[in-house]
Amino acid sequence: MKYIIAPSILSSDFGNLQRDIEMINQSEADWFHVDVMDGVFVPNISFGFPVMAAVKKHARKPLDVHLMIVEPDKFIPEFAKAGADRITVHYEACTHLHRTLQLIKASGCKAGVALNPHTPVTLLQDVIEDLDLVLIMSVNPGFGGQQFIHNTYKKIKDLKNLIQGKNEDLIIEVDGGVGLQNAATLAAAGANAFVAGNAIFATENPTETIAKMKQLTNSISI
Ligand code: DX5
Ligand code: ZN
Repeated sequence: MKYIIAPSILSSDFGNLQRDIEMINQSEADWFHVDVMDGVFVPNISFGFPVMAAVKKHARKPLDVHLMIVEPDKFIPEFAKAGADRITVHYEACTHLHRTLQLIKASGCKAGVALNPHTPVTLLQDVIEDLDLVLIMSVNPGFGGQQFIHNTYKKIKDLKNLIQGKNEDLIIEVDGGVGLQNAATLAAAGANAFVAGNAIFATENPTETIAKMKQLTNSISI
């Protein structure tokens, strides 16, 4: 099993963005997690295309773009053009989710769906074979540095059951309140991609924290 560490640049120092991107390039991290917030779907605004283009210019690892926006179809081709490798939309923001997933793929990206803490994984059963990734939100989306919601473990297990015999290569990503204290338990429950913002950038040595997260998850054999 290959475990993926995806530092969230939402917690980076925007005044030193290039420095922090370089840190991720040189670390054992696998992806850049890019949180886009519109102030409508979530009560916060993060950044848009110009910042993403700046990240793309320096990043030497894939961009894992998490869209916390309403009407994502309007912008998916532009996010793909701006350098997204994976685009994840929220289940709660998509009236025609199947159509949105096809649009992501037609734009040349891998397709993911994010679930808010209150949204059960069973709602994905009719699109599960169309997905490359499911992002289980382990906090309510909108902000970094929040407290991990424990019910996430149950959701990971439910998702593991749902993909059985249907899409076992699906990536199960967890986002929110993830760090050294719970990465190994989450991996044991079945998660294989870990987003971490605060747990990486608020530490003295982010490169070392990434290496430790990688070590912890790799120590799990399932
Ligand atoms: C929250 C975002 C997360 C956030 C995670 O809405 O989707 O990606 O950056 O931050 P931490 O790891 O600090 O909870
Ligand atoms: Zn995110």
